[in-house]
Amino acid sequence: MRDPGELPEHVRRNRAQWDAWAAQYVANAEKNWALAEPDWGIWNIPESEVGMLPDDLAGKDAIELGCGTAYVCAWMARRGARVVGVDNSEAQLETARRMQREHGLAFPLLHGNAETVALPDRSFDFAVSEYGACLWADPALWVPEAARLLRPGGRLHFLTNSFLMMLCQPVEDDVAATDRLLRPAFGVYRVEWPTDASVEFHLSHGDWIRLLRRSGFEVEDLVEVRPPEDATTRYPFVTLEWARQWPCEEVWKVRRR
Ligand SMILES: C[S@@+](CC[C@H](N)C(=O)[O-])C[C@H]1O[C@@H](n2cnc3c(N)ncnc32)[C@H](O)[C@@H]1O
Repeated sequence: MRDPGELPEHVRRNRAQWDAWAAQYVANAEKNWALAEPDWGIWNIPESEVGMLPDDLAGKDAIELGCGTAYVCAWMARRGARVVGVDNSEAQLETARRMQREHGLAFPLLHGNAETVALPDRSFDFAVSEYGACLWADPALWVPEAARLLRPGGRLHFLTNSFLMMLCQPVEDDVAATDRLLRPAFGVYRVEWPTDASVEFHLSHGDWIRLLRRSGFEVEDLVEVRPPEDATTRYPFVTLEWARQWPCEEVWKVRRR
């Protein structure tokens, strides 16, 4: 493990912020570890609609980049995958380890930065991120790192905020996305909010496609998530009315050449 002082500034800031937020994610961890059928994102969309996990995970090597409390790892392990979780927050991993003990499910959990993972090239068949590295790590670093970790033909699936929603997001805390474009699309990359210490990364679709292709991936699908009419969320940054009209989350599915 490298000295945290050597970590990039955004990784240090996100580590401190996620260590502080971890307690707020314990209840969600307990709920999601206990789920029989995975669901995804802020609206809990069923796996059958999103297809985040490949059908053929049994016997495959899978890694979650920014695993947090590791419930996605648990879902993959229960499907027969050999799983590794990587997360930047020791406090989040503490919850993950407690969940492992309570559910009797063991797999390696690495404390570290998904931009530089201490594992060999071509170790995995599948990499996944749900609001993990795909939101909080620098795409110019974590996408090539995911490509390095995957075997040829391996898949990377990630779910994050939609670019459109970011453009409509007021800077004030706890205020939902509006029906106005509040920031320019050109030049968006690193995003900071005035209300906390975290650093996020948001790319236009063109920028994602160019980065993914440059890193050795072919884009197979982009799912723009639409919640059902009765969906609920605990997150204040978007309303159901908004999310029923425009995509507030997007799932990228890409394959390593
Ligand atoms: C919203 S959680 C997502 C994980 C999981 N889906 C969950 O909800 O518990 C975001 C996680 O990304 C992790 N993270 C942020 N930056 C990271 C980085 N550079 N490398 C690895 N993990 C990172 C945070 O520590 C946090 O646990």
